[in-house]
Amino acid sequence: MALSTQLHVVTGKGGTGKTTVAAALAMSLAGRGKKVLLCEVEGRQGIAQLFDVPPLPYEERQIAVGPGGGEVYALAIDPEAALLEYLAMFYRLGRAGKALDKFGIIDFATTIAPGVRDVLLTGKVYEAARRRDGNRFAYDAVIMDAPPTGRISRFLNVNAEVAGLAKVGPIRRQADSIMQMMRSPQTRVHLVTVLEEMPVQETIDGITELTSDRLPVGHVILNLVRPSMLSVATREALSSGSLKTATVATSLRRVDLDAAAAPALIAGGTAHLERQRLQDGQREILEDCGRPLVELPLLSDGIDLGALYELAEQLKELA
Ligand SMILES: Nc1ncnc2c1ncn2[C@@H]1O[C@H](COP(=O)(O)OP(=O)(O)O)[C@@H](O)[C@H]1O
Ligand SMILES: [Mg+2]
Repeated sequence: MALSTQLHVVTGKGGTGKTTVAAALAMSLAGRGKKVLLCEVEGRQGIAQLFDVPPLPYEERQIAVGPGGGEVYALAIDPEAALLEYLAMFYRLGRAGKALDKFGIIDFATTIAPGVRDVLLTGKVYEAARRRDGNRFAYDAVIMDAPPTGRISRFLNVNAEVAGLAKVGPIRRQADSIMQMMRSPQTRVHLVTVLEEMPVQETIDGITELTSDRLPVGHVILNLVRPSMLSVATREALSSGSLKTATVATSLRRVDLDAAAAPALIAGGTAHLERQRLQDGQREILEDCGRPLVELPLLSDGIDLGALYELAEQLKELA
């Protein structure tokens, strides 16, 4: 177990693979014998779906083991339950806190005031990352499947706003401690993106915003990267236009395939080449972003446990 707990925050535009990458990173760390907590804060139950287990309760559950004795626990952080914990901690309300529900305070905190919601969610992550087990920390690493790039800076920074409101006292101390953890060298905010114009631009904007908020940016993860399916010779022949229908038709006939498919094959190859070019262009843009890049291939059979192990292998340098 750790001398201090690492916090990996995984953000990215929706659908780029945040949940998948967060889970693969957890597996990667567990593969090194670490005890890891993988948590989600958006109430989507994406982790449960990914690991094919029933919806996660507000309780840490072991969902996987790694070779070498590592373990992955998962937690879906529920803001209402976190609010009761928070109130109990500050006001020692204990079970009486539940009575507050009758006054609608929970509705207020979780639906009316989104900032309050973020305070609770980050507060719970802080609690897990600082929790002790004897004279060590309970987890070696906490991995957060975080809100999307457009909201991440504000989300991680919400306790700086709290600190601005509470000048003194326990709430101020808690807010300061959380910001200290968010900005410490133990924390890394990783950005997941696909190699398309919009998400790449959002990634670059996200890095700028996180940096100006003094939040530590980790790796940029290029996900769903399409491997090139063509040989160098074929690529050159396609792009110079020297690959003729007749040549392709002859090759098809030689392996007993329908020669009439030649024009469609050339069109398909040209489209593939164009997508590869766009991908390469976006990769070049990211190469100048000042952060290390890691690439994950688009796995054509989808994401199962085997696929997670495969992606985990590629994420070793983050762990
Ligand atoms: N490297 C990959 N190869 C194949 N499919 C992937 C890969 N990464 C993610 N996916 C799939 O893409 C979809 C979106 O991924 P998900 O992790 O849920 O994204 P997010 O959490 O950012 O919304 C899911 O169906 C997931 O299985
Ligand atoms: Mg998700």
